[in-house]
Amino acid sequence: MQPPPPVHSALDLIGNTPLIELRRTDTGRCQLFLKLECQNPGGSIKDRPALRMIAEAERTGRLQPGGTIIEGTAGNTGLGLALIARHKGYRMVVVMPDKMAKEKALHLRALGADIVPSRSDVGKGHPDYYSDLAARLERETPGSLYINQFANPANVAAHETETGPEILAQMDHRIDAFVAGAGTGGTITGVGRALRRVNPDVALILADPVGSVLAPLVTEGTMPEAVGSWAVEGIGEDYVPPILELDLVTEAISVTDAEAFASARALLAEEGILVGSSTGTLLAAALRWCHRQTRPQRIVTLACDTGNKYLNRMFDEGWMREEGYVEGPERGDLGDLVARRHDDGLAVTVPGDAPLATACSRLRDMGGKPIPVLSNDDALLGVIDAPTALQAVRSGRRGTPCAQVARPGHGLDVRADRADLERTVRRHGYAVVTDNGGLVGVVTDLDLLRDAERTPCETYR
Ligand SMILES: Cc1ncc(COP(=O)(O)O)c(C=O)c1O
Repeated sequence: MQPPPPVHSALDLIGNTPLIELRRTDTGRCQLFLKLECQNPGGSIKDRPALRMIAEAERTGRLQPGGTIIEGTAGNTGLGLALIARHKGYRMVVVMPDKMAKEKALHLRALGADIVPSRSDVGKGHPDYYSDLAARLERETPGSLYINQFANPANVAAHETETGPEILAQMDHRIDAFVAGAGTGGTITGVGRALRRVNPDVALILADPVGSVLAPLVTEGTMPEAVGSWAVEGIGEDYVPPILELDLVTEAISVTDAEAFASARALLAEEGILVGSSTGTLLAAALRWCHRQTRPQRIVTLACDTGNKYLNRMFDEGWMREEGYVEGPERGDLGDLVARRHDDGLAVTVPGDAPLATACSRLRDMGGKPIPVLSNDDALLGVIDAPTALQAVRSGRRGTPCAQVARPGHGLDVRADRADLERTVRRHGYAVVTDNGGLVGVVTDLDLLRDAERTPCETYR
């Protein structure tokens, strides 16, 4: 196969993404194909509609040279728009809900975009909801255009004329089902239309996070009374976006955050493909559908974005335990409060002979949680907390070995009383839990808070 010829702009790399058959995953009787939209230059499927929506705004004169593009986005559309804005000389303003991965905001800023945070805890119609805030900014900013991907027909058109036909060509027109999520609904509507034009019987499966209103609407036909919350990014809705044609959908499958994260992690472990959280939802739904089939079927789903920006969340076992998506083994002692246990290889520690500067950088990574100092044979030498590090750095000891800076720390045996632990944490801000002198892990008030959030209130009355 000939490698593709050189291109002259990152924008020329948008689209024409590869399709891979998942041969190492148990897909029952079916063949499951994954279209690698994560290989677009902005890292997600949203580069496609971003390119098309800007082109359409230029064509119709709604966007003039040197103008400002505004969008309310979970991040990926913003990344695509910011990439294109950079190439074409537009200013980019992104309104972004505050629950989104920090890496997306960093990526956007590095592309030169201005970020306006919006609130994740309020619904549509509230002035601080991301789309309402973006619309207001457009009114207040001369020469600006609110792209509004949720109601922009060019969003659907990008998928109807490009993503869909690419899938058909790559599958030799032999495709029985397509699984996608819906954020704006551009993908499932556009690809759905393109596939149905060729094969009216193709099943269109909506993969939806538990808590979103879309799957209940498809399955029960009514809007649920309450909207839930979910951690998967980019898909799931609390209303039906104007461009989403829900009538096209054959069936909806609801997927929990925990199942989505587990699927994305399994994809990396089994197939070596690093994808984001929404892909986990799609994959979990696709696999559920595959395993229900009694005849062989050919099914396509999407790797919507790259997993790079989720490495310190769903790909971090310690974070997964801290957030309660996976449970560590329960031992019935104080160690159960430690999400990052040393004996599971998850504790962040520092060797006694490392310079203090190393402990300082780990303290920053851990948000100030005290760092245990260990000898080469794993004995606990003490702890470095932020006040200790600050004092040592101020007295010019950045290069001093951690063993010489460490303090004894406030230790407790793993078999001690819960009340003793609470008292130690209240008094000193943390406790170092040990087992026969060996490190189990550090507990802070944040660990107690997480535990309290998971425990029914009655327990504390
Ligand atoms: C990671 C990710 N997956 C899926 C989607 C959903 O795509 P669509 O907006 O076409 O429904 C989005 C949209 O923002 C996204 O960011």
